[in-house]
Amino acid sequence: MQEKIIILDFGSQTTQLIGRRVRELNIYCEIVPYNKFPNDDPTIKGVILSGSPFSVYDDKAFKMDLKTIWGKYPILGICYGAQFIASEFGGKVEPAPSREYGRSKLAHVDADNVLLKGIKTGSQVWMSHGDTITAIPAGFKKIASTEDVEMAAYQVNDQSVWGVQFHPEVFHTEDGLALLKNFVFGVCGCKGDWSPASFVEHTVADLKQQLGNDKVVLALSGGVDSSVAAVLLHRAIGENLTCVFVDHGLLRKDEYKNVLNDYQCLGLNVIGVDASEKFYSELAGITDPEEKRKIIGKGFIDVFDVEAHKIQDVKWLAQGTIYPDVIESLSITGTVIKSHHNVGGLPEKMNLKLCEPLRLLFKDEVRKVGRELGMPDHLIMRHPFPGPGLGVRILGDITPEKVHILQEADHIYIQALRDWNLYDQVWQAGVILLPVQSVGVMGDERTYERAVALRAVSSTDAMTADWVHLPYDFLAKVSNDIINKVKGVNRVTYDISSKPPATIEWE
Ligand code: XMP
Repeated sequence: MQEKIIILDFGSQTTQLIGRRVRELNIYCEIVPYNKFPNDDPTIKGVILSGSPFSVYDDKAFKMDLKTIWGKYPILGICYGAQFIASEFGGKVEPAPSREYGRSKLAHVDADNVLLKGIKTGSQVWMSHGDTITAIPAGFKKIASTEDVEMAAYQVNDQSVWGVQFHPEVFHTEDGLALLKNFVFGVCGCKGDWSPASFVEHTVADLKQQLGNDKVVLALSGGVDSSVAAVLLHRAIGENLTCVFVDHGLLRKDEYKNVLNDYQCLGLNVIGVDASEKFYSELAGITDPEEKRKIIGKGFIDVFDVEAHKIQDVKWLAQGTIYPDVIESLSITGTVIKSHHNVGGLPEKMNLKLCEPLRLLFKDEVRKVGRELGMPDHLIMRHPFPGPGLGVRILGDITPEKVHILQEADHIYIQALRDWNLYDQVWQAGVILLPVQSVGVMGDERTYERAVALRAVSSTDAMTADWVHLPYDFLAKVSNDIINKVKGVNRVTYDISSKPPATIEWE
């Protein structure tokens, strides 16, 4: 039986990170909202309570009934999680005299405590809270302090319950992973046998059982997630899976042809549909980013729906949804900045049952699973690409001519990243066609042509991102090539904005 750690999400920005760290230790974990603990699951080995944007004494603070987990599982409270447990048992949590934020050092460590095994005095920890525990309840014991925080960590006497006010999941807490290891292995007794191979084995068996002889349809996008989902499903149900790959005319240069060919080489049963004309005509004259997204999303659903109905007796719609999408949709505090879910309307419209075999994986895990399935590196290591494609990289209205210009410029840039061995060092890159024309000179001629922006970011999950310091020589070469070879462009700029406050895409 697969062991599992449950992470109760109280809304912290770092909840996902806790999940990633536990997975890095080859232990399967699930993040669930703080009030949705999955009772009666015999595979649960331990529970972690996350941080939160709230103070325990806020009216709006998220609270749960600790009785659902108390005495049944080992518990680790992190930051708010620790403060919440302490306050529920009569401890005192108060605003910190100065907001405790950033690096600090452990000044006292109870090295005999199983949670702190191997962690030394002087080890750096990362704090991020406005409150602090000023008195722990009776029956709790202090097991670590920092220079400024007396109750940096505690254990409930004779119980498998701990609280830490710093964040072991963040990189800047030097021994954070050691602490999490002590908890999951030392306390919870996990074995750490979760691996891509075991995931493939379990999932293929589950899919066979879930789907039986049913027919399944899946929309391929050319991206990593839908491709891996397709190969996984194909392994489970073979020809009963039909894939549909729609060209909305906003793909990269030659992408439709190349990706279709890749899919066929993988043995997938795939139908390609070139619907560019439909999208170009529906998008003509539309400049508002959200409206463009909606038109592209709806157009995609319409085309896909027609194709799917040509398949007899189809019962399931499969999607390459991954864990960050699931967490985001469950988010208890989330704000929508852009409507990313291009195919969000598909399941309702089609009246099909939904199958999402990757819904519990992070992106890097999806890539490992793809490799395990024998998929080629150029498919697995592809940069993320937005569903509306170049549609959100052409600022203003979209015309076939602009798409062509952007495809050519983008091709030069991406190919150069590959040639200079920079592609894999970048999370995502692309060119943006700006709604700006500027004066230039070519030969003896005055030109009045378009400007493009190059974008390259580093990231681990697209939630935050930084611009990449690409070498000047590289930028010079790309700029030169674009201006010389792409008719209609006479100026190249480089975007040096990080996310936040900017986003990765411009629209
Ligand atoms: P932003 O621009 O919000 O993008 O920083 C974060 C990540 O999401 C991708 N993105 C999209 N993906 N449909 C998608 O499937 C969309 O409408 C969309 N908009 C942005 C973006 O490329 C980046 O990887």
